[in-house]
Amino acid sequence: MLEVQDLGIRFGGLHAVRDVTATIPAGHITAIIGPNGAGKSTFFNLISGFYKPTSGRIRFQGEDITRLRTHEVVSRGIARTFQTTTIYKELSVLDNAMIGHRVRTRAGLLDALLRTGRERRDEEESRAGALRALERVGLAAQAGRPAGALTQEGQKRVGIAMALSSDPKLLLLDEPAAGMNPEETVNLMALIRELVSGGLTVALVEHKMSLVMGLADGIVVLHHGQKIAQGTPGEVSRDPAVIEAYLGGHAHGGQMGQTITATTTGAPRA
Ligand SMILES: Nc1ncnc2c1ncn2[C@@H]1O[C@H](COP(=O)(O)OP(=O)(O)O)[C@@H](O)[C@H]1O
Ligand SMILES: [Mg+2]
Repeated sequence: MLEVQDLGIRFGGLHAVRDVTATIPAGHITAIIGPNGAGKSTFFNLISGFYKPTSGRIRFQGEDITRLRTHEVVSRGIARTFQTTTIYKELSVLDNAMIGHRVRTRAGLLDALLRTGRERRDEEESRAGALRALERVGLAAQAGRPAGALTQEGQKRVGIAMALSSDPKLLLLDEPAAGMNPEETVNLMALIRELVSGGLTVALVEHKMSLVMGLADGIVVLHHGQKIAQGTPGEVSRDPAVIEAYLGGHAHGGQMGQTITATTTGAPRA
C-alpha cells in the first residue's frame, strides 16, 4: 500500500531519517519502533507531508506522493494522529471530530475564505464525516458531551476519530497508548484490530512492547534514523542488531530491551 524508497531528511547536520526503504502492506498493522530520537515521528511527518524529504520517494497505492501537501496527502487517504493530540476539552466530542475533518481536508485559511459560498455544504460534509468516525471509535452516544468530560481513554478515542473523520485508507498513530493504563491499552488494541478488520491499514509508533508484540503483523525498527530491521515480531525480537540497539546503552536501553526479549511472538489477529 505504501512504499518508501531511500527516504531521508536532514535538519542542518542531523540526518533524522536516512536512506529508509520500507513497505507498509495493505490490511496489516505495522509498528515502527526504535529508541528515543530514532526518527519515528519524523518518518510519520514525512509520509503525511508535514516535512519534505531531502532524498527519496514515497509511493501510496502506486502514486508518487513525495511532494504533495498535507491536505493532498489526506485526500489520497492517509491520516495521522499526533504524539500529543490536542483536543478541545470544552467543546463537544462532535465538534472536535468536525475540527479534525476541517484541518485535515482544507488547504488553509485562504482556501476556507475562498470557499465561503460552499460553507454550508462543507459543514454538512464535516458533520457527516465526524459522525461516521465517532461511530467507528464507539463514541456516537457521547457526541454531545464536552470532550473534557470523557475518561483518558475516551479522549484518546476522540483523537483517533479526528483522524478517521477524513475516512483514510491508511491511519498513522503516533504513540497511541502513551499515558494509558494496562486496561485502557487492551481496549485500544481491540479498537485498532476492529478498525483493521473493517478494512483500514494501520501503522503505529509505540513504546509499549506488549502492545507492539501483541498487535503488529510486521515491525520496522529505526535507529539513528536508519532502518536496522523489518520483519515479524518474532523475527525482530531475535534480531541481534535490534537487541544491540536497545541494550547498547542508548537513551531507552535496558527498559525496552528487556521487554523486547522477554516478550514472545505477536499473536495473529482473529
Ligand atoms: N523539525 C525539526 N528540526 C530539527 N530537528 C528535528 C526536527 N524534528 C525532529 N528532529 C530531530 O530528529 C531526530 C528524530 O526525532 P523524532 O523523529 O522525533 O524521534 P522519535 O519520534 O523516534 O523519538 C531527533 O534528534 C530530533 O531532535
Ligand atoms: Mg516520536
